[in-house]
Formats: sequence, structure tokens, C-alpha cells
Amino acid sequence: MDADAQKRASGEAAASLVKSGMVVGLGTGSTAAWFVRALAARKLDIVGVPTSQATADLASGLGIRLGELGDTRTIDLTVDGADEIGPGLSLIKGGGGALLREKLVWEASKACVVIADAAKQVEMLGKFALPIEVTAFGHKTVQARICDVLDEFDLGVAPSLRRRDGLPVRTDGGNLIYDAACGRIEEPAALAAALKSVTGVVDHGLFLDLADRALIGTANGIVELEP
Ligand code: A5P
Repeated sequence: MDADAQKRASGEAAASLVKSGMVVGLGTGSTAAWFVRALAARKLDIVGVPTSQATADLASGLGIRLGELGDTRTIDLTVDGADEIGPGLSLIKGGGGALLREKLVWEASKACVVIADAAKQVEMLGKFALPIEVTAFGHKTVQARICDVLDEFDLGVAPSLRRRDGLPVRTDGGNLIYDAACGRIEEPAALAAALKSVTGVVDHGLFLDLADRALIGTANGIVELEP
């Protein structure tokens, strides 16, 4: 089974967890897209809360009724992909640039299920460059302060501004993203707090203590993990 087939299997497994009447957080990325397709095919009476404009477009095109975060008090279940799944279901997310909306939806959810192909599981977070979303105003100053934080953690890397076709990538919220190739993140909780304390950092891709379950597609079928 190749990576895409594993993503598809995990998305389909997660879609089977959804029941009629639920408010469902819809993640972003290629794995979450498999979930959205499988969910739409079930034709349940649900409301989807998308974590990006791309997911909103996909879901509404497939006939899923959409709501906005805040329309309802809580989201019953959010299903989303990840760039890395580490110990205790600690995650790096944001490879698709949707980390802020994803984190807002995850934090409003009663339960969060992460779906992924087997290659996403790692022994320690950090090989995938950590996305850090920052305000466009003063972003070079913010970058310098992020460098100071990374230095404190002996992660002596200069985060690079994410670009596409030579131009800085803007998130759905109009912000910029710096990617920090940390290598090994030995203290994710402390690093998360330190990054969040920098003025101008809107959020970062460390999702800690948020995932309740992982459904990982592997060559031998779905492997289920809990924190
Ligand atoms: C989007 O911003 C990300 O958090 C994605 O969930 C993550 O990049 C995983 O993407 P794939 O499912 O495409 O690998």
C-alpha cells in the first residue's frame, strides 16, 4: 500500500466514526481530503466546520453543510492530518499552512482524531520543519526573536520564510509562515510556550495534548493509537 492509499484508508476509517447530528471539524491537507470525501459519501445529517478555505471549497462542493467556528458551542469530533506524530500523540502540523484555524477548531472539539500514513509516525518531533505563523507587520523582527528562542533550546537554525513561486505564502488569515528545521525537539511543551510568548507569533505547529486518538494507515491495515 503506498502512502496515498494509507492516507485514504485512515480517512475512510475516521469517517466511520461520524454519526448523524454531529458537528464535525474538517481538517486540511491530502489525508483530511480523503476523510471529507468519505464523509460526504455517507450522506449523514451533519454540519462541517472547515479549517481552511480549501477544505470549505472541497466539502461544500461535495454537498456537506458548513458552519462556522462559534456557530455552535462545541464541535463533537474533529478529524485532521499531521506532518509528524510523536510520543503521546504530540504532533507537528501546518505543512499546508492552516495551523491557526486548525488549532482553533481542535481546541473547540470534544474529541480529535489524527489520521495519517505510516511515514508520519516518529520517535521524536522535529525532522519536519516546524511551521510558525507570524504577523506580516514586522515579521523580520519577529523572526529575529524566534531565532533567540530557538537558540535558548540549542536549536540553532534560522527559520525560513515560506515562499511559493518566489512570493511569501499568505495564510487564510493573511499572515506569513516561517519554517524552523529544528531537527530534534526534545522539550516540545517548553518550546511551544516560549514561541507563543513572542509578540507577533500568531501560533505554531506544535499540537500537544490535543489528539485523543490516531488512526494510522499502514501496509498491514489501520493501526490505532492513544496518547
Ligand atoms: C495543514 O496545515 C496541515 O496541518 C496538514 O494536516 C498536514 O500538513 C498533513 O498534510 P497531508 O495530509 O497532506 O500529509
